[in-house]
Amino acid sequence: MGKVVLLFLCMVLVVVSLACADSIEKLEVQKHLKNLNRPPVRSIKSPDGDVIDCIHVSHQPAFDHPDLKNHKIQMKPNFHPEGHPFGESKVSSNSKPITQPWHQNGRCPDGTIPVRRTKKDDMLRASSVQHFGKKKDRSFPQPKPAKPLPDIISQSGHQHAIAYVEGDKYYGAKATINVWDPKIQQPNEFSLSQMWILGGSFGQDLNSIEAGWQVSPDLYGDNNTRLFTYWTSDAYQATGCYNLLCSGFIQINSDIALGASISPLSKYSSSQYDISILVWKDPKEGNWWMQFGNDHVMGYWPAPLFSYLSDSASMIEWGGEVVNSESDGQHTSTQMGSGHFPEEGFGKASYFKNIQIVDGDNKLRAPKDLGTYTEQDSCYNVQTGSAGDWGSYFYYGGPGRNPNCP
Ligand SMILES: *[C@@H]1O[C@H](CO)[C@@H](O)[C@H](O)[C@H]1NC(C)=O
Repeated sequence: MGKVVLLFLCMVLVVVSLACADSIEKLEVQKHLKNLNRPPVRSIKSPDGDVIDCIHVSHQPAFDHPDLKNHKIQMKPNFHPEGHPFGESKVSSNSKPITQPWHQNGRCPDGTIPVRRTKKDDMLRASSVQHFGKKKDRSFPQPKPAKPLPDIISQSGHQHAIAYVEGDKYYGAKATINVWDPKIQQPNEFSLSQMWILGGSFGQDLNSIEAGWQVSPDLYGDNNTRLFTYWTSDAYQATGCYNLLCSGFIQINSDIALGASISPLSKYSSSQYDISILVWKDPKEGNWWMQFGNDHVMGYWPAPLFSYLSDSASMIEWGGEVVNSESDGQHTSTQMGSGHFPEEGFGKASYFKNIQIVDGDNKLRAPKDLGTYTEQDSCYNVQTGSAGDWGSYFYYGGPGRNPNCP
């Protein structure tokens, strides 16, 4: 008799504690969602299923950052690096400008910024509320296979095909990036094409500013190609996130939403489209600014976010990254770039062109001694070149799994 009662009580206890844990998690998700999705001045439904909220510029998450409590927002950069203006290529690329689908249904008023609304499902796909919007593991393209930490690269299963410069002080970087819609094999994998502005050594305190396009079913719930930014000041551990998913980046632009889809996309043996991204440091205030295309100054990463980058960057990387989860014991067939190897060239392989760095005189110039790096060139590869209109450029990418990459 006593045993039955005890068993019953224990069962009740188990059910109650499970229910409690569940409620606590639900509350946490709600709280985090409320913090990310600020009260909008206007909301715009995008044809791709996103909702874009127009948030007052002073209500964005950045101002919750403990180091930005008394920060005075800069509504425009007081400095632009000198050099060639963006050379939208007249011959080879299509001249249709890149837009975002939500523009079809409205615009954000002056004084507001467009923010992609985070859905509950977006957050539930993350391993925890704390991990939402952050990179899952400490993986970074460290283009020195023989040097420290190669284990991190191979263990985490991230694969890269990149070009890079190091050995100098860099105050910014620029590139025009071909835009595609690579296929993703597993929902937990992604494919991105971006530049990295890196400060410090490849240790626990690596500083990184990143911008480009990505396809990430895990982060966004679909296979759309999206504009993104990322930052960290501790090698992807506690600080930083994608887009505006934590306090950090300050957006001032009312036309372009970070994390929103971009179109049109390039097609194999057909029209090619690209985006230009410039990141540079304001020598006076120390903030790192970002510009999208010719017209869109997006905003800035305030100087107090960083340690090493508060002086300068020590390395710049441009290129692609995918996750190879090898779920079935074979290499993933997730594509990088167009999914085709560099050898195929224009219209078929994806490219970065007019890649430049900002030097110590705050001038844009072609990088000297561009290196390349890839973990497995039979899966994804990179090939550099230099010519006329295209300045310093490279083709990169590949199909992943194929007879030479089993
Ligand atoms: C993304 O694409 C993969 C294969 O290309 C497909 O299996 C998957 O269902 C797609 N995911 C979504 C959310 O559309």
